Amino acid sequence: MTWKLQRRQFIRTAGLIATTTSLGGSVRGRWSVEKLRTAHIGVGGMGNADLGSIASHPQVEVAGLCDVDASRLARAHGKQKQARTFSDYRQMLTELGDSVDAVVVSTPDHTHAPAAMSAMNLGKPVYCQKPLTHEVVEARRLNQVAQQKKLVTQMGIQVHSAAPYRRAVQMIQSGMIGRVSHVHAWSNKNWGYDGGSFEGQHVPPSELDWNLWIGTAGMRPYVPQVYHPGNWRRLVDFGTGTLGDMGVHIFDTPYAALQLTAPKWVRTQCRVPTGIGHPAKNLVEYEFPGTPFTTAQMNWKWYDGANAPPGIADLALPKEFELPESYKLPGQGSLFVGQYGVMVLPHVGEALLFPEDKFKDQVRPEVGDLNHYHQWVDACHGNGETSADFSYSGPLTEALLLGVVANRFPGETLQWDAENMSVTNLAAANQLLQSQYRKDFTVENL
Ligand SMILES: NC(=O)c1ccc[n+]([C@@H]2O[C@H](COP(=O)([O-])OP(=O)(O)OC[C@H]3O[C@@H](n4cnc5c(N)ncnc54)[C@H](O)[C@@H]3O)[C@@H](O)[C@H]2O)c1
Repeated sequence: MTWKLQRRQFIRTAGLIATTTSLGGSVRGRWSVEKLRTAHIGVGGMGNADLGSIASHPQVEVAGLCDVDASRLARAHGKQKQARTFSDYRQMLTELGDSVDAVVVSTPDHTHAPAAMSAMNLGKPVYCQKPLTHEVVEARRLNQVAQQKKLVTQMGIQVHSAAPYRRAVQMIQSGMIGRVSHVHAWSNKNWGYDGGSFEGQHVPPSELDWNLWIGTAGMRPYVPQVYHPGNWRRLVDFGTGTLGDMGVHIFDTPYAALQLTAPKWVRTQCRVPTGIGHPAKNLVEYEFPGTPFTTAQMNWKWYDGANAPPGIADLALPKEFELPESYKLPGQGSLFVGQYGVMVLPHVGEALLFPEDKFKDQVRPEVGDLNHYHQWVDACHGNGETSADFSYSGPLTEALLLGVVANRFPGETLQWDAENMSVTNLAAANQLLQSQYRKDFTVENL
């Protein structure tokens, strides 16, 4: 039985008792103040924002806080004094047990899957930051276990719930620009590192538990400024580069609007792999099978770092859809090429349609903002559903991570067999779909 059902049953039972008997305060009180008790793994950086957004729901009580950096943990504890604090999420999940209902994961990418799966193995609903996982196989497993256990899940792509993105999805699906044949998407951020290995033996700061920070990955010496906080994104063992970091936000709208599934193939152009950092600039191409909103096949191109935004000439738009000379593409965003026109969707902003004259009187759907965080809390309480659960965000993440794998084989076209989770023409690429977890950090179902 899922937590959601147990909970519903409790509410039904409490409601029945409340209407048929004269009760003292306790049951009726619990009915009216029923709260989702949350535990948070990673509470610095984005985890701090996640904590604030989840805790702002009136039916949430923060029960546990976990961070491997004691100073970040103390800062969060200052805001949620009633919560118990931990440095090891495994200990937190064991000790808090049934006194926690749901778990939020906001750690670096390589710890998403182990932390989220540990919570799901205990039957807890999970809100997990993007990209869902660090590795392709992890994304598939999280999705499978969430579905088997019928758990409420949500990936932390909060812009998915923002009005401009939701409106753009409706505009595409209404056929405003017709069936889409190409999507170009880009981010001028650079979460890459083209340099060599890191030298020296440094002592980790006293507030940081380096062993727990490394977690499932291979142990190595701590180096200041290289890993914690934030810069782990640049490194292949911990982050997913600009494609994983920003691509998951920017590719979300095309993926949702066009109802894309697994890519057929992926190919990248970038520097020779170093095995240390992600490339500082990337050009990644995908082909997806056709859907009711695309032509028979759909091509997607991703540009990042100094490759972004692409030059107008790189887009090779049909002559009748050429963008005005004065128009500059935003630093981050996507461009859909349809049968009747082009949509540019800045990250984050309202969609623009070209040719301008053709679409100037087009009426846009009225769509409001949703609260991505509260949507998850409400769904845990049995009210409504989440919009980026793992059955959606798992395949989206798998597709992006295949591009990250392709970066290790520039120029090669990786043919993808999604059902069998296999790159059919390059055995070496299959070695990068899943890494071996460090002893003492293995997790059931991963
Ligand atoms: N949705 C968004 O808009 C958005 C924005 C920024 C970051 N993010 C995501 O949030 C996640 C964190 O990114 P960040 O920028 O905050 O990174 P960060 O390095 O600044 O913060 C990560 C936090 O997790 C803690 N941590 C690391 N390992 C841990 C472990 N094993 N157990 C408990 N705590 C641990 C760190 O000490 C730190 O406080 C990433 O997945 C990132 O992609 C999402």
